[in-house]
Amino acid sequence: MLLGVMLGVLSLSWLLQAEAAPASAPAPGSAVTGRSMFFGDGPLQAAIVGHPEALPPRLAACANCHTDAAGVKAASFGPRLDGSRMTEMRGRRGGPPSAFTLTSFCQMLRTGVDPASILITRQMPRYTLDDNQCLGLWRYLMETNDVGSN
Ligand code: HEC
Repeated sequence: MLLGVMLGVLSLSWLLQAEAAPASAPAPGSAVTGRSMFFGDGPLQAAIVGHPEALPPRLAACANCHTDAAGVKAASFGPRLDGSRMTEMRGRRGGPPSAFTLTSFCQMLRTGVDPASILITRQMPRYTLDDNQCLGLWRYLMETNDVGSN
């Protein structure tokens, strides 16, 4: 009897919790959250090297520099990104052949150091990201052939 009551209370509180979470919220670390960060709909914290203040979120969006259809004219445009080219062994920025992995991708976003230990230009902002944000961006890029167009 007591057990039945306890189970009842437990399942009720579980139901209430499930109720509280919006059903449409995408899972942290998913390609869907990555896509929304890429286009500036999700939060992204970034700064340009040498500037102490954070970039306005609209400018921090990857799409501003990595798509042709940039809504905001950024200081400098980055290369078109493509998941399969990122994971291909090839020379980048005059360095020895290298390929991105999740770990080296996150390192580059945070520090600017690429998989061949070469520093990318300061035109690419440095990001303050947690592991899930980074994973979401990575999954979005890996699942998308023509990044930015969809
Ligand atoms: C203000 C412009 C700008 C923004 C915003 C920006 N980038 Fe970049 N990005 C660049 C530039 C410029 C380069 C090329 C740097 C170089 O080659 O030294 C670059 C390079 C890269 C590269 C390296 C590509 C390669 O093959 O080596 C990746 C990956 C990348 N960016 C991902 C992102 C992601 C993900 C975001 C958003 C979280 C982002 N960038 C936001 C400008 C930007």
